Amino acid sequence: MSRYNSPTWYKDAVFYELYVRAFKDGNGDGHGDFKGLLSKLDYLQQLGVDCIWLLPVFPSPLVDDGYDVSDYRNIHEDYGTLEDFKAVVDAIHQRGMTVIIDIVVNHTSDQHPWFIESRSSKQSPLRDWYVWSETDQKYREARIIFLDTESSNWTYDPLTGEYYWHRFYSQQPDLNYDNPAVQQEMLDIIDFWLEMGVDGFRVDAVPYLFEREGTNCENLPETHAYVRRMRAHVEAKWPGRILLAEANQWPEDVRAYFGTEDAPEFHMAFHFPIMPRLYLALKQRTRKSIVDIMNRTPPIPSDAQWCVFLRNHDELTLEMVTEEERQYMWEHYAPEPRMRLNLGIRRRLAPLLDNDQRRIRLLNALLFTLPGSPILYYGDEIGMGDDIWRDDRNGVRTPMQWDYSKNAGFSDADELYEAVIDDEVFGYRHLNVIQQQADPNSLWYAIRHMLAVRRNYRAFGRGTFEFVLPENEAILGYWREVDGTEDVPGEHERFLVLANLTDEPQPGELDLSAFAGSEPIDVLTGTRWPAIGAEPYRFELAPYGYHWLRIR
Ligand code: NOJ
Repeated sequence: MSRYNSPTWYKDAVFYELYVRAFKDGNGDGHGDFKGLLSKLDYLQQLGVDCIWLLPVFPSPLVDDGYDVSDYRNIHEDYGTLEDFKAVVDAIHQRGMTVIIDIVVNHTSDQHPWFIESRSSKQSPLRDWYVWSETDQKYREARIIFLDTESSNWTYDPLTGEYYWHRFYSQQPDLNYDNPAVQQEMLDIIDFWLEMGVDGFRVDAVPYLFEREGTNCENLPETHAYVRRMRAHVEAKWPGRILLAEANQWPEDVRAYFGTEDAPEFHMAFHFPIMPRLYLALKQRTRKSIVDIMNRTPPIPSDAQWCVFLRNHDELTLEMVTEEERQYMWEHYAPEPRMRLNLGIRRRLAPLLDNDQRRIRLLNALLFTLPGSPILYYGDEIGMGDDIWRDDRNGVRTPMQWDYSKNAGFSDADELYEAVIDDEVFGYRHLNVIQQQADPNSLWYAIRHMLAVRRNYRAFGRGTFEFVLPENEAILGYWREVDGTEDVPGEHERFLVLANLTDEPQPGELDLSAFAGSEPIDVLTGTRWPAIGAEPYRFELAPYGYHWLRIR
């Protein structure tokens, strides 16, 4: 287990979400692949990320970009072979990094041999691997997730005259977790990939594994029981490997997916609700929504960790906000209907923030200091753009912009899986990795710098979190503090993070008298702030300014 610096290595890790198809084409067929990825691992190491999360890599008809799996024990032919995959995993490990893969447990593709067999007759031995019903009136309290395309969670199958259950596209039938064979099979699949060397899984669509009449079919006790079994299985056979929950839920419901110290479930879970509130706070010019949601976030077990993110491969989800907040977000961040998708916004980080470098850096500075492990979405480190006119979520999954050459250096092919962004603001002819690496003032450097600084401390990944709130609500402030432990030794660290959420200078005042005599140091710039005294500590923050102040 030598590649893990501690049993809780994931707490110190910075994650990088990577879509293999979009990253680098190594064989010239217009699709990113493992050969391409292999050639770009040095880039990721240079950037300073620790753990790479790969979107689904399995064979799939790609109705939902690989989240519709047709074979769980192989690699999509566009990406290469199992050997190519293994080579990438080994090369990642050689560089001291780790890798987790997406595992789609809730559903398969309708092209998976299991489903083809299951639908073939009511007597099929695999009939019970999926959720079949004579009527489409069961589980009516379950919401529809893909609102823009699906009208029901049931689809009629004329072959046998019954309906099958699906929480996502109708081409993604849900597996039946009441069937012990399904439960066992998924554990075997997990073993298969751990055997290949992956360091864990991002477990897709966790809340929906079971269905029960009279409930909304989310977060059921049966689901938690199965997750506990999955964790116990991994823990017993593969210590150090992690499970990360995709459960787009309110903090108290996600909290349950960490389980307890005695009966653990996931090591990590995304903090979905904080994400839209970071954007809200900027528009509303007040920290209020951030403070509210963090105060509503329960403590988690000692070896558990949140994952925080600004954007990902999906629409910016607005499921975990109030109706009023959703309307506000849509109005301010998605004024054109085409920018909206389901209950969200199909735009990338930089366009959402009007390509304003100050706001992009500010949100990243918060991302790297809020409790949890941060996740960067590929391309956001250079502020890539999107294209809202492409279907579904394809507009935020365009090829990585490496350089000025044909297809942004992504591929030699004449036809790509998806065209490179080539517009006036975000086009690859002026926005790409090479250009930013040549400019010390670029976003790429700013992010690399923040990651390099963050790496020197344990407080951001492991420390306690406490708000410190000046009267001025435009200023967000919090303490991050940590002591050395047996597992992770080190000296005491205390940070005061301050951020101005507005485009005007903001004055602030705090009672820091407990630290009188100390001179705060901004570890991002090395700047020394005036010594703290007994009187209120006064400061002024520049527009969208942010500081990571070390106070000894
Ligand atoms: C969540 C994934 O992030 C999304 O891309 C996918 O469409 C659904 N789960 C269904 O698997």
